[in-house]
Amino acid sequence: MQAFAYTNGQLCAEEVALAEVASRFGTPCYVYSRTAIEQQWQEFNSALGQGDHLICYAVKANSNIAILNLLARLGSGFDIVSVGELERVLRAGGDAGKTVFSGVGKRVDEMRRALEAGIKCFNAESVAELERLNSMARGINRIAPVSIRVNPDIDVDTHPYIATGLKENKFGIPYADALPVYELAASLDSIKIIGIGCHIGSQITVMDPFINALERLLSLTAEIENKGITLQHIDVGGGLGICYQDETPPTAKDYVKELMRIFSGKSYHLILEPGRSIVGNAGVLLTRVEYLKQTSHKNFAVVDAAMNDQLRPALYGAWHNILPLTERTAGQGRVYDIVGPVCETSDFLGKDRKLLLHQGDVLAICSAGAYGFCMSSTYNSRTRACEVMVDGRTMHEIRRRETLEELMTGESLLPA
Ligand code: LLP
Repeated sequence: MQAFAYTNGQLCAEEVALAEVASRFGTPCYVYSRTAIEQQWQEFNSALGQGDHLICYAVKANSNIAILNLLARLGSGFDIVSVGELERVLRAGGDAGKTVFSGVGKRVDEMRRALEAGIKCFNAESVAELERLNSMARGINRIAPVSIRVNPDIDVDTHPYIATGLKENKFGIPYADALPVYELAASLDSIKIIGIGCHIGSQITVMDPFINALERLLSLTAEIENKGITLQHIDVGGGLGICYQDETPPTAKDYVKELMRIFSGKSYHLILEPGRSIVGNAGVLLTRVEYLKQTSHKNFAVVDAAMNDQLRPALYGAWHNILPLTERTAGQGRVYDIVGPVCETSDFLGKDRKLLLHQGDVLAICSAGAYGFCMSSTYNSRTRACEVMVDGRTMHEIRRRETLEELMTGESLLPA
């Protein structure tokens, strides 16, 4: 299904014209399609079939509790990287027992809350973390379930800021050190080793690196088991890319099928941590053209969304398709840079886009469901956008626009 498509010249989300969303909720506004999110999750799930598996949706991709709740209702697990994400999962009705805790910098208080909540496991990334976890768990008389994140040293063709599986990256235990680290972990009294995992990067659009990483993990599991350490699961992480422009990533179905070719016959429980591939193409950001500005060099469309609302173009030079909500046929387009009001030259949402624009038009920044709202900030004292979920013909406001009062909450003047 295409979540966002033109019907009678109007760009729609499911059965709702996005122009209607913009006029009811204002702009900038993130809009998601419930069907698209659920279908993507189901595609992973049905491809995994009857095999012993758990999809742990990577909460960081989009952490709105309405989205987490939809996934929890489908039976999803979650991959979290902070106590904040854990509290969101719990508030959304997610199951702690299906939640894995990743990240290189877990604080003691975060570990304690997660252990007490009964998470499935900690994805440990260093010896120091294992030692800290062990002593925290001993202190509260509990045993912490642990999976070790191994860094398989695999090069992936993605933006360097989102490649995580190279030996120079901060993530995971270096492949060559993994075996002794497992032996050390096995000797700690308040830790129980249950798995092994990796995550090699994000927006990966070919299968090879995933296959290589899984093969490397599997050969390591054999060595670990030879040392008398039993593993229950293998976690292949997330990272499957989506189409922003003309990329042709494997579908969720093909991705799973390829992984299963390597994995079949193994008796491990398989964990996946997809984020972007579930929500990325299920969301758009609506923004209104405030001004059209022509200089001798450039045409600018100054819109009401900015890098604080959508950071990906500024941070990674990411390309997102930009579509008008109403298709115009009469008249010639112009080539515009679509820029926001923030005082930074990197504040652009798209460059050199041919569009036929009028002041006041609303545009959709496409493929904005992942790493969109959740990476937004209030830079330039801009209130954060609202978020709307479309479900068939219905619109639900799943986060209202931040107010100026909320923007300054918690700040105070010094005494006179
Ligand atoms: N698991 C772990 C341990 C991760 O670090 C990540 C993402 C995922 C799973 C989910 O990966 P995905 O399936 O979404 O690729 N802000 C960047 C992406 C950062 C990804 C960080 N880690 C962007 O906008 O492209």
